[in-house]
Amino acid sequence: MANQTFARRKLLEFIAASPLLPVFSAQAAQRINDRDYIADSADMAVNVFDMENVAIGNWSQAHWTYISQGVEDELTLRANEEGYKNLHLRAHRLVDVSRVDISTTLFGHSLPSPIIMAPVGGLGMAHSEGDKEAARGLRNTGHKMIMSTAATFGIEDIVEARGEPVWYQLYPTNVWEITQGMLRRAEKAGADVLFLTVDIPARNQDRMRRFNRDADDCTECHIPGTTFADKAMMQGLAVPRSIIPSNPSMDWDFVKRLRDSTSMKLVIKGITQPDDARQALRVGVDGIHVTNHGGRADESGFATIDSLPEVVSVVRGRVPVIVDGGIRRGTDVLKALALGADAVCIGRPYVWGLGAFGAAGVEKVFNILDNELTIAMKQAGVRNREEITRGILR
Ligand code: FNR
Repeated sequence: MANQTFARRKLLEFIAASPLLPVFSAQAAQRINDRDYIADSADMAVNVFDMENVAIGNWSQAHWTYISQGVEDELTLRANEEGYKNLHLRAHRLVDVSRVDISTTLFGHSLPSPIIMAPVGGLGMAHSEGDKEAARGLRNTGHKMIMSTAATFGIEDIVEARGEPVWYQLYPTNVWEITQGMLRRAEKAGADVLFLTVDIPARNQDRMRRFNRDADDCTECHIPGTTFADKAMMQGLAVPRSIIPSNPSMDWDFVKRLRDSTSMKLVIKGITQPDDARQALRVGVDGIHVTNHGGRADESGFATIDSLPEVVSVVRGRVPVIVDGGIRRGTDVLKALALGADAVCIGRPYVWGLGAFGAAGVEKVFNILDNELTIAMKQAGVRNREEITRGILR
């Protein structure tokens, strides 16, 4: 033992005196700096940013832009992540945290963790097996998946890949018969919670608009002339070519009509304002999803984590509140729970995992965040959902 210590000290002395020191230090710094680290396998990824690094190398610039972009000057996109950095957790000591339980219950389902897979359209751009591969990534972890209306594959294929029913995100389109067709198909596939996305009456995605499908060799992935009408969830329905995913004439009467037309629980996805939350409760929704579409809808410059307390104070526990946008660490999840969220969604982090290592990458992303949440709870001295209160935030 003494010999080993000596040998190690000698080695360190040698390195310190060596002209190679600057190189050695640079390499060490590089491995410590997440932004430059390239993991060889899902297991080698230490945090979700490691997945992003690998995925960027696997994607075309157009696909990377599609996933990473916000709208206009990306104020809201940046605000979502910054919002968490502006909140601080209190470290509480000498609490027995040898056992921490991160499981929860939502819409009658027992979930292993409050972290849910957000609906992301067109996952085929991240991986050839798209949503199916993302679903496979949750088979071992047990996390819940919300699939998008704009999914690359149909709900039946995704449910089979996942091994259990998924929840369904609805872009209702501008044709009621198509809305109904999707409701019946989702119900038949076992979905029991419906997320109605309401945050895109219009949007301005500058970065993506610079790509020109004809000039930028998009035909490798996209068949020329295809539109939303060709999406997997439109198959088998009488879809007009003029169909649009998100209907700008949608209003509260539409929400009531939808509520009365399905056996699924109805969650409104895209609420950020307390008055909208109040109205949502009036029309009898079963849940509220505080989100700005990951900074891809409005350019308010306002973070969802800053909207959350206002919405929670209106809801007062009557229905579950879910939040997403900018969640990259277990500490972010804990902050959201402390401010009253019942669950959170993640979007880009699992898409990075999917693009980096397929299902193994997705699985690892959820494991990383669960583990970080567990550590954050131990640091805060809280052992389960009931013990997480605003008091753990400064
Ligand atoms: C999305 N999101 C989204 N939401 C939705 O309701 N239907 C959809 O089809 C999509 N598609 C989509 C594509 C891409 C590439 C992204 C990044 C996001 C929004 C998504 O459900 C979620 O609200 C955000 O992704 C959460 O923010 P983070 O975790 O990506 O910061």
